[in-house]
Amino acid sequence: MALKHLTLRQLEVFQEVVRQGSVSAAARHLHLTQPTVSIQLRKLAESAGAPLLESRDGRFQATEAGQALYLAAGDMLGRLQALGDELQHLQAGTRGQLSLGLVTTANYVLPKILGAFARAYPDVELSLTAGNRGQILERFRRQADDLYIFSHPPEVAEVVATPFLRNPLVMIAPPDHPLAGQSVLEPAALTGQRLLVREPGSGTGMALRAWLEQQPVGLTQTLQVASNEGIYSSVAGGLGLAVVSEHILRSRKEPVAVLPVRGFPLAGSWYLVHHKRRPLSPVGQVFYRYLREQLPVLEPDYALSPQEG
Ligand code: PGA
Repeated sequence: MALKHLTLRQLEVFQEVVRQGSVSAAARHLHLTQPTVSIQLRKLAESAGAPLLESRDGRFQATEAGQALYLAAGDMLGRLQALGDELQHLQAGTRGQLSLGLVTTANYVLPKILGAFARAYPDVELSLTAGNRGQILERFRRQADDLYIFSHPPEVAEVVATPFLRNPLVMIAPPDHPLAGQSVLEPAALTGQRLLVREPGSGTGMALRAWLEQQPVGLTQTLQVASNEGIYSSVAGGLGLAVVSEHILRSRKEPVAVLPVRGFPLAGSWYLVHHKRRPLSPVGQVFYRYLREQLPVLEPDYALSPQEG
C-alpha cells in the first residue's frame, strides 16, 4: 500500500464516480475524458492496494475498502475546502486580527466607529490600547500594533500618516467663570488665570504649550492633571481653565463654558499611522477603507475627505 502517492485529484474523481455510479457520468461532470477517469481510478486502487469499486447491475458501487476511502476523501476534501474559504477571508481582510494603538483623545470617537466596524466585520478580532502620545509613541517604536492613531504623528522618516478626522482643541472654563459669555477674548485676557495642563507626554499638552509660547500670556499658575477626564472634571468643578479636544464635550454631561479665545479652536486632526516597512495587513487595509467610506456618515462634522487628508 502506498497511500502517500495518491493525489487529491484522484480522490475527487473517485468521489464523483461513487456519487454518479458511472465512469462516463463522472467524466462528463468533471469535464474529463472517460479514459482519464479510468486511469485515475486505477492509480488510486494501486495506491490503496485493494479494489475500490465493483460493478453491480450496471452501476459502480464502492467496495468495503472503497467506502472507507470515500469517507476519508470527504474528510480531506472538506477540510481543504474549509481551508480555502479561510484563506480567502484572510486575504480579503474580512477575518484576522487588528491591533490598534491610539491616543487618549481619540478614545472619545473611536469606540463608536469600531463598534460599527465590528458589526460589519464580525470575524475580525480587534484589540485596542489607548495611552497618551508618549505611551503610544513607545508602542510605535516597538511596532507593537498594526495601526496607530495620533494627532501628532511620530517625527521620523519611516512613517505613513494620513489625517482622517478633525480634532479641534477648545479652551474651556467653569460655566460661571467671569471670562465665560464674552463674544471674543484676546489671549492677553487670560493672564493670571490658573490653567490645568496635561502631563508630559500628552499631545494635547504639547499643542497647548506650543500655542502658549507664541502668546503674550502670563499664565503663571498651572496645575498638572494626568487625564482628559480629570481635566474636564476639574474645570467643571471650578478649578481653572484647560484646553481639551472638542470631542470630549460630546461625551460629558457636566456643563463647562467654551471660551472664545482668539486663535481657538486650535486646528488639529487625527492621523492613521503605520510604519513604512510594515505594510498594512489585509485586515488593516479593510479597516482603512472602512474609515474612509463610513466616517462621512458616522462623523459628518469632523470627517476629512481623502483630498483634505
Ligand atoms: P494625548 O492625546 O493628549 O492623551 O496625548 C493625544 C492627542 O490628541 O494629541
